[in-house]
Amino acid sequence: METVNLTGRLARNWRVVQFRKIEDHRGNLTPIEGGIDVEFDIDRVYYIYDVPSGSERAGHAHMSLQQVYIAIAGSFDVLLDNGAQTETFTLNRPNTGLWIGPGVWRDINNFSSGAVCLVLASAKYDEADYLRTYGDFCEYIRGNSRS
Ligand code: TYD
Repeated sequence: METVNLTGRLARNWRVVQFRKIEDHRGNLTPIEGGIDVEFDIDRVYYIYDVPSGSERAGHAHMSLQQVYIAIAGSFDVLLDNGAQTETFTLNRPNTGLWIGPGVWRDINNFSSGAVCLVLASAKYDEADYLRTYGDFCEYIRGNSRS
């Protein structure tokens, strides 16, 4: 398990994860087991789909939640921001995930037609864990980097 380092504001608290692809003549299969293929126990799964052209999703950060985003169909871009650095990923493979740790602002946009964003989450839905405005996110990051 990677140590979450919110005090080091330069830490990129995210990374690309490759999942297995089991191929045979019937097609491909990708298994994901909590605590094995992803480092947390999966407590929640949700998916974003039927996204109208030009729509943006997310636009928030989490104080403690870990998530993995996977483009199980189509493609989309994920812009990540730790308060000091930003990085944009195009997800377009069902066996590639993007692990995002706590304290990371994320925007998801540029959804292709038919795109489906599968999200694996380390905890149940909890509105209290959200930082819903960029101002609150910056204040939270500043507070953590001082402590
Ligand atoms: P929101 O977090 O804004 O979605 P996104 O990250 O895709 O922009 O959530 C949209 C709505 O769905 C909001 O009313 C909260 C609700 N919701 C749940 O009830 N459970 C969940 O697991 C999630 C992620 C959202």
